Amino acid sequence: MTSTAIAHPNIALVKYWGKRDEELILPATGSLSLTLDVFPTTTTIELTGEKDDVVILDGAHLSGSESARVITVLDLVRELSGRDERARVTSTNTVPTAAGLASSAAAFAALAVAAAHSYELDADARTLSRLARRGSGSASRSVFGGLARWNAGVDDETSFAEPLEWRGPELAMVIAVVSSARKSVSSRNAMRRTVETSPYFPAWVESNAVLLDRMSEAVTTGDFTAMGELTEQSALRMHASMFGAVPPVRYLTASSVALFDAVAALRDSGVEAYATADAGPNVKTLCRASDADSVVARLSDAMPSVEYVVAHSGRGARIAAE
Ligand code: DP6
Repeated sequence: MTSTAIAHPNIALVKYWGKRDEELILPATGSLSLTLDVFPTTTTIELTGEKDDVVILDGAHLSGSESARVITVLDLVRELSGRDERARVTSTNTVPTAAGLASSAAAFAALAVAAAHSYELDADARTLSRLARRGSGSASRSVFGGLARWNAGVDDETSFAEPLEWRGPELAMVIAVVSSARKSVSSRNAMRRTVETSPYFPAWVESNAVLLDRMSEAVTTGDFTAMGELTEQSALRMHASMFGAVPPVRYLTASSVALFDAVAALRDSGVEAYATADAGPNVKTLCRASDADSVVARLSDAMPSVEYVVAHSGRGARIAAE
């Protein structure tokens, strides 16, 4: 059976940074994100009579540690479905891989959905979120469209994402592509280093849990201003925790910081916009969809050398139409 699934990246408004269990990918705190409608990943799984799984990403065969996470997810699906055929996984990204634009979130959400379909596993959304999580933590959220909260949980069963309803204004995310180069430190290694060496990590965990509670409240009440303020706070506190690591982890470049300043200047002039950034220099600006064009125009004036992409709320991972 051949199955093709499609999934989109998500951008965390309340960040996930640091694990309490590396093997199960249990996070130190919960997080909350917006799944986007740009940069989809398409993953096809074909069951084969071969001896080993084959993993091909953007035309290149992956091996060793690069394919290990994919095989972990396939093994879990095989265990749950009671089947043992090997698979050929072919995945195509439309976002520059590993540049802090969350390609692994879309990839592992698509993988979980395609694998469950191929092995005829009747998995509900919660199970798919848990499976995606075992590939990459943030992928647990891309199973769902729109806003999703990943509850940290205490074990494998309790750590999954769930969709949230948003009654506020239509949202947009303006992505400033500062660099699409591969990041120098993987988020996995940077996270571990922050957990092990940053004296700020415990404060990050404590404060991010508070931000998540407040953000959940802002989502329930449709409060865009609170959502935006909490988004910037969570991003800056996450990066602050990395600055304290030894050696320090610094993904933000001078251009990233200039973009945060440009977004603050936008706010001063009355356009409500809020910046966030992940494990890379790109800056994503959360705004009302009705303000997206003026945000792009104003940021382009401040930083003309950067490419801007406007994203909106997108759909969750699903089987592509046959
Ligand atoms: C900065 O989900 O890529 O984007 O679980 O080790 O695969 P692993 O990490 P990953 O980390 C994402 C971190 C982040 C913040 C976020 O998306 O919440």
